[in-house]
Amino acid sequence: MSRRSKVEELDTRIDALRAKIKDSEDLKVQEAVFDNHTLMDLYSLASRGIIDALGGSISTGKEANIFRALSAGRPVALKIYRISTSNFKAMQDYLHGDPRFGSIKGSKRSIVSAWTKKEFRNLKRAEEVGIRVPHPIAMRDNILVMELVTIDDDPAPPLKEVRLNREDAERVYEKLCQYISLLYNQAGLVHADLSEFNILYDGEPIIIDMGQSVTLDHPMAQKFLGRDIDNVVRYFQKNYGIGSRDEIISAIKSDAKAKGPAR
Ligand SMILES: Nc1ncnc2c1ncn2[C@@H]1O[C@H](COP(=O)(O)OP(=O)(O)O)[C@@H](O)[C@H]1O
Ligand SMILES: [Mg+2]
Repeated sequence: MSRRSKVEELDTRIDALRAKIKDSEDLKVQEAVFDNHTLMDLYSLASRGIIDALGGSISTGKEANIFRALSAGRPVALKIYRISTSNFKAMQDYLHGDPRFGSIKGSKRSIVSAWTKKEFRNLKRAEEVGIRVPHPIAMRDNILVMELVTIDDDPAPPLKEVRLNREDAERVYEKLCQYISLLYNQAGLVHADLSEFNILYDGEPIIIDMGQSVTLDHPMAQKFLGRDIDNVVRYFQKNYGIGSRDEIISAIKSDAKAKGPAR
């Protein structure tokens, strides 16, 4: 497809999405996502060949919309942070302690861009140390393009919606313990919103939603780590009667020792 027709195709899809959304309740939220600037970014991603076509909506969250799209013929997820309804104060609190971003000031748009870049980099860093995350493909301003995690062509469900058998539950729990430790010890990050909502399952757990993940120098890093561990243990205890906070903490400590003194 030529560049021009790609952009036209995208235009048609966006119009169709808008028409579909017209009668739905969350009209305001949806209108907020396709502001002019975001449309320009989508066109730019299309003309660079990063997006071939836009598909349906997967999720409308508090701050971001997730859409299906195609990239080089492959299914991808577009996470579009809405500029108008983002919680800047909270975003700034998470950005401030991060040496990669320092004190980001300025427009709402630049804060949301920094946030999107932070999610992109966090996913990359997690992937580099062997954690399964959606492969991050590209970003531009408030738009993140990543691999779409699927089962039979549908987006994979979050762990919250899956019922595992005992054996799988143990396997997934072990993997998540490993991931928490790898993230902390090897990537130097704490997820900071880890729960059954932000773990997808396609037979294996996949960690998502890393915009708020912080480096270890963030003043709240240890507190966030404790909260992540508690969420995972609470979920596995409630549903499968397995898991222990102390077990995860001692695994993190012994992995830290094996790694040697902090860099
Ligand atoms: N890469 C992806 N592949 C498949 N589904 C995804 C992907 N990213 C997000 N989703 C779906 O969209 C939902 C919201 O995405 P998330 O990144 O958690 O944003 P939010 O900040 O709104 O929670 C997820 O719970 C998941 O169901
Ligand atoms: Mg989420």
